[in-house]
Amino acid sequence: MTGDLTDPATPVVDLHGVTKEYPGDVKALAGVDLTIERRELLAIVGPSGSGKSTLLHIAGTLDRPTAGTVAIAGHDIGSLSDRELSALRSAHIGFIFQAFHLVPGATALANVMEGLRYSGLSHARRRRQAAEALERVGLGDRTTHRPHELSGGQKQRVAIARAVAGQPDLLLADEPTGALDSASGEAVVELLHDLNAQGATIAVITHDREIAEVLPRQVHIRDGLITEDRRPQAAMVGGAV
Ligand SMILES: Nc1ncnc2c1ncn2[C@@H]1O[C@H](COP(=O)(O)OP(=O)(O)OP(=O)(O)O)[C@@H](O)[C@H]1O
Ligand SMILES: [Mg+2]
Repeated sequence: MTGDLTDPATPVVDLHGVTKEYPGDVKALAGVDLTIERRELLAIVGPSGSGKSTLLHIAGTLDRPTAGTVAIAGHDIGSLSDRELSALRSAHIGFIFQAFHLVPGATALANVMEGLRYSGLSHARRRRQAAEALERVGLGDRTTHRPHELSGGQKQRVAIARAVAGQPDLLLADEPTGALDSASGEAVVELLHDLNAQGATIAVITHDREIAEVLPRQVHIRDGLITEDRRPQAAMVGGAV
């Protein structure tokens, strides 16, 4: 499964009328339309329980919607089997979570290589790509450190290296700075900006207003619905013409 990203007009994510219901009459998503184009960098913001993580899981194909359509890189996920979906996910999507989710006893390099486990690449190639990804996040000198030998910010950078090692088209981050002090958080945000400048499409859930405000697009969600979708800089450019 390679996906049709040779066509820049194909959105990376295209959600239409997406709902997600849980037993007990919980509507985590109540009808969401969201299109993410290639090379976008956007924030997803909203109160606790508004459906942000649910949206990220569905956009990341970790979960299927109750109703509505989800297309990733032009593939309608409703028509894919679970196995095909895993292949699509492993080829196109990288995840970053608040709690890092690193393997405790494994070195930084092994942790990053884990992100390439289903890539079909040889061990030597995975090792090389993982080492390059650690260089990219500024941890080329920490490859043999294990998670307990790294700071929180460094752990998150290892997790980012793991997410980007396979050069995914889409990076999805759920509160990536939530467990970090402000300086480490800033470094992580800067890194996300750099990765976006190098071509990655990135969606970041954040409670942090300051982080959201400097991103080019902000999607607001409340009670499972998108209430606002702002592109302040685009508006400014448009206004100046
Ligand atoms: N597996 C589940 N089973 C039942 N209800 C769920 C499940 N997952 C989420 N929910 C409910 O769906 C709603 C949205 O949850 P979600 O995790 O998407 O919120 P969130 O915006 O990410 O919140 P937070 O900012 O606290 O992380 C919540 O009311 C939650 O209780
Ligand atoms: Mg959440």
